[in-house]
Formats: sequence, C-alpha cells, structure tokens
Amino acid sequence: MDTSSPRVGSSPLAGRLTGLGTTVFAEMSALALRTGAINLGQGFPDTDGPPQIIEAAVKALRNGRNQYAPGSGAPELRQAVADHQQRFYDMTVDPDTEVLVTTGATEAVAAALLSLVDPGDEVIALEPYYDSYAAGIAMAGGTRVPVTLRAPDFRLDIDALRAAVTPRTRLLLVNSPHNPTGTVLDETELQAVAAVACEHDLLVVTDEVYEHLTYDGVTHRPLATYDGMRDRTLTISSAGKTFSFTGWKIGWVVGPERLVRAVMTAKQFLTFTSGAPLQPAIAAALALGDDYYTKFRTTLEAKRDRLCAGLGAAGFDVFAPQGTYFVTTDIRPLGYDDGMAFCLSLPERCGVVAIPHEVFYDDKLAGRALVRWAFCKRDEVLDEAIERLGQLRS
Ligand SMILES: Cc1ncc(COP(=O)(O)O)c(C=O)c1O
Repeated sequence: MDTSSPRVGSSPLAGRLTGLGTTVFAEMSALALRTGAINLGQGFPDTDGPPQIIEAAVKALRNGRNQYAPGSGAPELRQAVADHQQRFYDMTVDPDTEVLVTTGATEAVAAALLSLVDPGDEVIALEPYYDSYAAGIAMAGGTRVPVTLRAPDFRLDIDALRAAVTPRTRLLLVNSPHNPTGTVLDETELQAVAAVACEHDLLVVTDEVYEHLTYDGVTHRPLATYDGMRDRTLTISSAGKTFSFTGWKIGWVVGPERLVRAVMTAKQFLTFTSGAPLQPAIAAALALGDDYYTKFRTTLEAKRDRLCAGLGAAGFDVFAPQGTYFVTTDIRPLGYDDGMAFCLSLPERCGVVAIPHEVFYDDKLAGRALVRWAFCKRDEVLDEAIERLGQLRS
C-alpha cells in the first residue's frame, strides 16, 4: 500500500458530504441496544402492522412476485396510491404517469433533490429538519437555507420564509405533519407557502409521511391541493408510518408527470426498484377501511397523551404535538440545558434513549435545550420509560 499517497490516511469522504457523519437515529438505537435502554429515540413502532397485510406479503412471496417490480412500481400499488389521494384528498392522480414507488420516503426525498437541484441552487427547508434532508441537499450540491420553527409553538414564521427566498432559490422542502416538532401547518401557513412558491415560481417537495397522524381534530391537507400548486409540487409519503411497517421501506411520490419523470431519472440509478412482494401488500393496506385509519389515529393520540402526561410529571416542559408520533420537551426545568449531553448520559442514568433536537438544526442554539421522544411504543413500554424518568427529579 502506498502510504505516501495523500489519499491514504486523510478522510476519503467527498467534500460535499463533510459533516454528515452517522445518522443520529442509528447512533442512538445502537446506544439503546448496548445499554439495554428503552428506545424512545428512533421513530419505529414496537408492534407490527395489520396481520392481514403481512399475509398479503407472504402470498406475494409464494406467488412469484420475487423478481424486479416495474421501475415505477407495481401497477396495483400505483393504482392504490392514486385511489388513496382521491379518497382522502379529492385529488385525481394518473397512476401510470403521476405516481412513482420508491424505497421509502427517504429515497423519494433523495431522488427528488438529486433530480431537481443543481449545484449552487438554494433549497429552503423548515428547521428543525429530518436529517436526510440535509444529506439529500448536500448530495445534490445544493445549499440549505433553513426557516426555523421556534418553541414554544413551532409555527411557521411567514416573514422569515419570504425573507429566505433569493434569486438562487430553486425549491421549497416542506414537511407537515412536521418531524420533530409535531406541527401541522394550518390553512394560513399552507396558503402562505403556496403564495411564496407561486410568486417566485419555485418547485415544492412536501414530505407528508405522517399524513394520517394528526390529533385533536386537526386535519392534514396536502400542499398540492392549493391553488397553483399541483403543477409544481411533489408529494411524498410512505407505508412505514401509516401501516407500522417501517422496515419494508415502501414509499411513493405523487406529482405532475414532468416532475415525476424527473425523479424517476435519478431513482432508476439509485435502486431501480425494491420490495417487489411487499408492494402488492401495501396496495391492500392502502385500501383498508376508514376504521383502520381512525383506530390508528386514536391509538396514537392516546399514546401521545400518555407520554406527554408522564414527561410533564417527570418535570419536563412538554410541547404536545398536533401530529406525528414525536413529542418535544424542554429540559431546562430539570436543571439541564444541553440536550446532546443530556441524551448521551440518559441511557446510563435512567435507561431511556431520546433524541437531542440540535441534530435537526443549522442554528444549534435554537434546539439546544430541546429533546424529542417517540410515543409509537406499547403502553407498558411508555409507562416503564415514564417511571424511569421519574428518577431525574430525585
Ligand atoms: C419526516 C420523515 N420523512 C421521511 C422519513 C423516512 O421514511 P421512510 O422510512 O419511508 O424512508 C421519516 C422517518 O422517520 C420521517 O420522519
């Protein structure tokens, strides 16, 4: 080996990926495994989705659905996605040209950014942002421009959004219901986003993976349904969150043909296609009756209430979310102010894992004292975590 080469020994990472490191979710889940702590960090349910959907996947495995699915996705899944958009949002979508099945929402976001963003283009994203957004923008060579949702109410600052737009802005990357804050953008905010996009002729990518998880009567309305938005918007969702099959990694993009075709250009060389036998099963899942969706929502709402009450009793300042399966707390009432240090020591101290908000920010200070907890866990697991957190006060 030629050790005199400057490439040996120095970081092999391409410059545009510098600073991305290991995703915090993997890091914290590994910490949970190592310490035997309860994992309220990574957002995955600890129970499986509907058994009949698992059976549908088994049937597909046994019935020859084991070779490459079509690049744009199994026809019945594309049809089911189109039917879902019609059923819940009154959106008419052509399953053949306006739907693309992806390897989870993560690939959908990455492929959208890779196909629509040129080096030097600016992408405005709501901060705190889901960590794959920063990676996707970096891989595309774009520049991230955050618009911060601030505690305690985490609403969209419409003036800040307007001020963030420059002649280099190419795309708005929106996420509602929003991870990690739980904000569901309201009518006024969505209209403002639509107005900014239309005024400046921007493309919009909207991550709506928590579309069926909204609480207290708050409803989700896709940005693509607003005036002037349909032709400039890619809507992303995923079966992982709605049907509790996060490991299946079946997601999709819905949008106008020219944008979907652009995403396909990148997607075909990332994975081409994946999860062939799982795709027909998710088609069946999307067609489940309203009772499934209602029960899923009310079950998670009760878990939200359970964990929020427990975190409050443990001494945190709790920001109850309107959507998603995450709750944010401020740790300062307990005498701490550094969320990262708090989360790194929490497994040893009381056997619970959570995620420090600061990993979701460019403006680290804005999230320094905030910590995110996932409540998509069995009640007894939440109760045990709450009991353990009770030690923090003593
Ligand atoms: C906002 C958001 N987008 C995308 C994803 C990833 O979805 P998938 O597992 O389908 O790739 C997640 C998962 O936590 C998320 O919270």
